[in-house]
Amino acid sequence: MKFLKWLFIVLSVIWVNVCAYALENTSIKGMNVLDWQEIAPGVWSAQIGSIESLTFREMAGGEPKVDAMKAMGKVTFPFEQRLARGQVVGQRTSVRLPLGINEQVYGLGMQFKNMNRRGQVYHLRTDHYGGNLGRTHAPSPFYVTSDGYGVLFNTVKWISVYPGVGNRKDSVLPPFRDRTTDPAWQAVPTSDAVEASTHSAGMEIIVFAGPTTLDAVRRYNLYFGGGAMVPRWGLGFWHRVPTAASDKEVTDEVDEFEKRDFPLDVIGLEPGWQSFAYPGSFDWSPKRFPDPKGFSQSMIDRGVRLNLWENPYISPESSIFEAMKPYTGSHTVWLGEVPDYTLAEARELLTSHHQKNHLEIGISGYKFDEVDGIDNWLWPDHATFPSGTSAEDMRQTYGLQMQQMITDMYRKTNTRTYGLVRGSNAGASAYPFAIYSDYYNHEGFVTALCNSSLSGVLWTPEIRSARSDADWVRRMQTVCFSPMAMLNAWASKTKPWSRTKVDDEIREAMKWRMRFLPYLYTAFAQYHFEGTPPFRAMVLEPGYIPANDTKEQALDDVKNPYAQAVRRDVTDQYMMGDVLLVAPMFGRQKERTVVLPPGNWYDFYTGELVGNGEVIQVEVELDKIPLFVKDGGIIPLMKEANNTRAWKKGVELEVRCYGVKGGTAMVYDDDGTSFGYENGEYSWYRLSTQKSDAGALSGHLEQVSGDFPKTFEVVHWNFMTKQ
Ligand code: GAL
Repeated sequence: MKFLKWLFIVLSVIWVNVCAYALENTSIKGMNVLDWQEIAPGVWSAQIGSIESLTFREMAGGEPKVDAMKAMGKVTFPFEQRLARGQVVGQRTSVRLPLGINEQVYGLGMQFKNMNRRGQVYHLRTDHYGGNLGRTHAPSPFYVTSDGYGVLFNTVKWISVYPGVGNRKDSVLPPFRDRTTDPAWQAVPTSDAVEASTHSAGMEIIVFAGPTTLDAVRRYNLYFGGGAMVPRWGLGFWHRVPTAASDKEVTDEVDEFEKRDFPLDVIGLEPGWQSFAYPGSFDWSPKRFPDPKGFSQSMIDRGVRLNLWENPYISPESSIFEAMKPYTGSHTVWLGEVPDYTLAEARELLTSHHQKNHLEIGISGYKFDEVDGIDNWLWPDHATFPSGTSAEDMRQTYGLQMQQMITDMYRKTNTRTYGLVRGSNAGASAYPFAIYSDYYNHEGFVTALCNSSLSGVLWTPEIRSARSDADWVRRMQTVCFSPMAMLNAWASKTKPWSRTKVDDEIREAMKWRMRFLPYLYTAFAQYHFEGTPPFRAMVLEPGYIPANDTKEQALDDVKNPYAQAVRRDVTDQYMMGDVLLVAPMFGRQKERTVVLPPGNWYDFYTGELVGNGEVIQVEVELDKIPLFVKDGGIIPLMKEANNTRAWKKGVELEVRCYGVKGGTAMVYDDDGTSFGYENGEYSWYRLSTQKSDAGALSGHLEQVSGDFPKTFEVVHWNFMTKQ
């Protein structure tokens, strides 16, 4: 008996090894097993071939935050290494990574149309509109899966990614089906891999462990320097004025904001602030802005910062045109020469000009337009640049180059910036820039907000105009619960009060934005220090349930495990900060469904319990955007204010608490504008609620770390849920 047992064990071990040998050596012919090295806690790199182009590491916004990654706990490599293969054939590098039958794939850049990437091919390129096939403003070749890990193809090259698409003949194939008779026949048969390929002599692949999908995203953000730490004023309300506005007209608009009691922190000047555009001169228009210094100071005195629109292509009218000429590429964009900002000389020319003419007079940042590689407008594939950087690499990284150069410029003066950019890519988490678009679909804007959290970028669903009063209010509400609350009136000439009938609803949305400042600023600090995106897709929430994961479907999955398991993910709601679920309304919609992850959820406005791990139907009036709070959620709010200057020493906070069992939340504090936080000049506070023996809740505030002197006072603990 004993002998038989041993024989069985020995034979089993032999069989397992034979199978492993067979898999490693006979399947996936010609592709080599990748060799992984741990390069940071929970981050592994493998290289195939040689790397000749720019990488995202060079373009990144910061150094890896190793301690923060370490603090996430020890993790092991997230999938079977022998299944990860790569090969270089001629000038084509390809990779094949395993994918489980039910594993879902997210990310691959900031797309507008959907979120689940399984079963579709993506040709990732920076481009203008965010189509759903990979051409988008930020085509980051980084994906995460529902199994809790992430993968970055660390090449800036155009790359095609095939998540669960394409069946190698030597891979594990799904059952053959007769299309004539079998309704389960698949147009895109389920595949067991994510394949990717690019025209290059090699590539680095970086794997980010979880254990959860959110942890994988956090590790990715931390690896590239942690999320952007935006200045406090950047979270106030932004208004971009009509393109040809003069200093006088801008001043009049700012007066109107004050008179009509609408919040305002930043004015964005569009192309016309320059003496020539497009191509731009980067110099002030003497006609529209005869005294830039005086004008900027007059705005600063009122607590309003200026942001300047630019596209980087330089006009012969510019004071630095002649000096820049030797450092420009072969082709023009709108007849402007294209500086090669990979060259230190070009960077120095631009930044010293901007430093002197903009930063020194108080300009707070920029909006870099047209850096997203549209075929008709930008340089062709065969354009050349003095540094030898290829036209393709330039197209893929131009937005990153602008972000890097300008962030560094501000860092040198110990001043934080927050701005806009229309083209970005992977490695951008630490850059304080939000992406925007000319695409203008409200639902698509919210999907982009979800996707941005999976790609390490920030996105603003800016408001420009509307088809109806309801559309105007709903769009304003969404943008007020986004990384940048902005009205872009460059062409529409709209103002927040343009639709007088809904003035009150618009004002209310903008005022809520301001009230949330302490909560939102803390969410950005968590982005920076812990890598957690301040706005998150629902797939990153623990226990997330997809909209259509019904019992019937689950049963179906068991019956037919090879059905391409692409779930309809929730793309019309998202999380803001630790505990708030935002479910925007669209157009004239009067009600909508909201998917609640497991745990009790409470109405933000009333504190009432609304559900637990279920799909609910909500009806709301026009003046409210549906907001829900997790059980035990604590939300610090500022008093109503029209400008973030209201956050000064002693600012009073109301702390709203939800649920019946108490909870904890963090509040972050620093000076709001400098890089002092990089040298430890900040503090973290813990808000907590506890139940007494008699069952009453009480609130407590304690300092947890740091020695930055506290700037706020909690004046009101508001227990929203009836005990
Ligand atoms: C567009 C941009 C708009 C506005 C406009 C000014 O390219 O997307 O937001 O800035 O240029 O000409």
